[in-house]
Amino acid sequence: MGMHPVCSADAPRSSTRRGGLPAAYVAAGGRAINCKRGVQGAMTRVLDGNAVGQTIREDLETGVETLADAGVTPGLATVLMSDDDASETYVRMKHRACADLGIESIHREIDPTDAPETLFDTVSALNEDSAVNGILVQMPVPDHVDKTRVLRSITPEKDVDAFHPENVGRLVAGDARFKPCTPHGVQQLLAAADVDTSGADAVVVGRSDIVGKPMANLLIQKAVGGNATVTVCHSRTADLASKVGQADIVIAAAGVAELIDGSMLKEGAVVVDVGVNRIEDDSERGYTLVGDVEFESAREKASVITPVPGGVGPMTITMLLYNTIKAAGLQAGVDLPALADLADLEVSA
Ligand SMILES: NC(=O)c1ccc[n+]([C@@H]2O[C@H](COP(=O)([O-])OP(=O)(O)OC[C@H]3O[C@@H](n4cnc5c(N)ncnc54)[C@H](OP(=O)(O)O)[C@@H]3O)[C@@H](O)[C@H]2O)c1
Repeated sequence: MGMHPVCSADAPRSSTRRGGLPAAYVAAGGRAINCKRGVQGAMTRVLDGNAVGQTIREDLETGVETLADAGVTPGLATVLMSDDDASETYVRMKHRACADLGIESIHREIDPTDAPETLFDTVSALNEDSAVNGILVQMPVPDHVDKTRVLRSITPEKDVDAFHPENVGRLVAGDARFKPCTPHGVQQLLAAADVDTSGADAVVVGRSDIVGKPMANLLIQKAVGGNATVTVCHSRTADLASKVGQADIVIAAAGVAELIDGSMLKEGAVVVDVGVNRIEDDSERGYTLVGDVEFESAREKASVITPVPGGVGPMTITMLLYNTIKAAGLQAGVDLPALADLADLEVSA
């Protein structure tokens, strides 16, 4: 199926884009990957999502400049209706990333005890605001707010999370306006690591609307970064270990700390860990973040693996910036050839 289970420490592989690949992206193939020798003697590549994300952000700067030449400053609006620390942190990180790239960002905070209409009125106003190209309502919203209605309230052209049914439908139909940020980030990571998904057996652990389902959809598309044979596992899956054990590519998105360990993996599997789980401990912060994969044992079997933190997380934010710039271009009628997607990426066989 054309994957590269080993890499050379002195000559790391890199992806190449057809037609004008920004040099910085090629360089990421080298910078983003650390190699460690596993028990079988093969080199395991630990993918650095910060480095891959940074390289894509350098591409995105060109998009921002093209928009500036047309008199357009991209704008992202975030809406938070929660007191949750993690949600507040995620929103802060998104604003910081916008500022770094020259994207304007505005923030609307709603008291979690307010009536749902306060949230819907806020989103309606942002839908009408021409300075806002992308709108993101940070999840979760309080129980008394209908989550489905929230996702439908954002106008599809500004739905940079790509959760609106119109955008979900377009993704499934192979005509995505926006790809959801986390699965798109995973796809970009795989491409940066030269992992050829075509013909690969992929197992996605998790079937949520924001990660598992769209991830599976991207992987089965008849397109670059797709063409995999996909099995989707969930909490009712019988014998998860046997499903995972057959996979060339494992995408773990269950939200269960260290659910998957090395003993479950096929030798040379590519392992992408989306999970972020807090394990309480005596540290100053009071917790440690771990993924859905038991990293140390998995690294002994995997050919490629992402760490937590520092793997998928930075890619999610990068692809949010990508979608916001894309949205600004679509809304202003500005062509952004610099926004190369996987369609322009040649993953060597
Ligand atoms: N790094 C990032 O940028 C990023 C972004 C989004 C999410 N995340 C993280 O990714 C993880 C998943 O997020 P999510 O929003 O998709 O979570 P979610 O909505 O809770 O979905 C979890 C999925 O995993 C399945 N599952 C739970 N326990 C399982 C088990 N023992 N075996 C197999 N499948 C199991 C569930 O099955 P059922 O459907 O049967 O319940 C569900 O489909 C979380 O840790 C989250 O924090 C990270």
